[in-house]
Amino acid sequence: MTGATGTPTRRAVAVGIGHYLPKRVVPNAEFEERIDTSDEWIRARTGIERRHFAAESETTSDLGIAAARAALDDAGLTAADIDAVIVATSTPDLTFPSVATMIQSGLGMSHGFAFDVQAVCAGFIYALSTANAFILSGQAKRVLVIGAETFSRILDWDDRTTCVLFGDGAGALVLEAQEGDGTGADRGILAVDLHSDGQFRDLLYVDGGVSRTQSTGVLKMEGKEVFRHAVEKLAKTAHTALDRAGLGADDVNWIVPHQANLRIISRTAQKMGVGMDRVVVTVQDHGNTSAASIPLALSVGVARGQIKRGDLLVAEAIGGGLAWGAAVLRW
Ligand code: ACO
Repeated sequence: MTGATGTPTRRAVAVGIGHYLPKRVVPNAEFEERIDTSDEWIRARTGIERRHFAAESETTSDLGIAAARAALDDAGLTAADIDAVIVATSTPDLTFPSVATMIQSGLGMSHGFAFDVQAVCAGFIYALSTANAFILSGQAKRVLVIGAETFSRILDWDDRTTCVLFGDGAGALVLEAQEGDGTGADRGILAVDLHSDGQFRDLLYVDGGVSRTQSTGVLKMEGKEVFRHAVEKLAKTAHTALDRAGLGADDVNWIVPHQANLRIISRTAQKMGVGMDRVVVTVQDHGNTSAASIPLALSVGVARGQIKRGDLLVAEAIGGGLAWGAAVLRW
């Protein structure tokens, strides 16, 4: 996937980042009124302190449009400069058309192409990998890659083992084709590693859908089992991606993990031999926003002044499918 040859190589380089969070902030204490839980339990077991929930009138595409506009502004570009919109989501506005076409239209684009990628919490890594392939093949010069979710719409409010974990939000990244020299010092996506294994599909799923129930359904999760797989698989996929880029954990400035649970984040970092001072953590403020969590963490990491131009980042995620993967990129 990467040339380590020092020869001119096309790279998909991040040139803009942005995010949007719905206004309504829901602290853990709000759940105490409704179900048998406590702020203390949620903080201790997950690291989550609060999350944002979309207003009734707000949809996934609304969140995505706001994030996309912020990313375009950050890049100093307009929608006219974009060739493709790829959206990672499991909570689309409608069964079809894609959220991506809604965002495309919301941005005033009637050129280019747009489609959704569905790999649940690993969706942004899959979307990033897809965008990278379009750029490397020359099919697109600039791609908007968006993670946008309204998980509050698929939660069972009586299930304390899941409803406290998730939040709504969106993050967007503008990738642009640039010329590198084919080494690990290049800016841009240096390597990607993707996996899925459908034999584990019952560990994390939504119990409704078009073809089976003609309804939306609610999220079901075997939390302990997903936790076990996450700890085992995330460090491994991150190491594989780094290997492919010809780099190692010592080269990493920031791990930008999927924000599901602080204990998973810290164990993965520990397994990789990377200190928590080199991990971007936002789970306390956002909860698990599924495919939106990595672009949200990237955007917040840049806004906080943690992630700087030239830093080496490893993003990793696992979710329903199971589907998981990692991407190595130099900011
Ligand atoms: N409040 C209080 N008690 C609770 C709550 C709650 N909100 N939720 C569960 N409990 C109880 C359980 O009922 C159980 O009680 P019991 O011992 O009497 O049966 C006890 O707490 C311990 O429950 P566990 O499930 O063993 O708790 P655990 O430490 O495993 O934490 C959690 C649960 C947070 C869900 C954890 O397993 C986890 O984070 N799993 C991974 C989730 C994840 O990473 N998902 C990523 C992908 S998401 C996607 O793709 C959409």
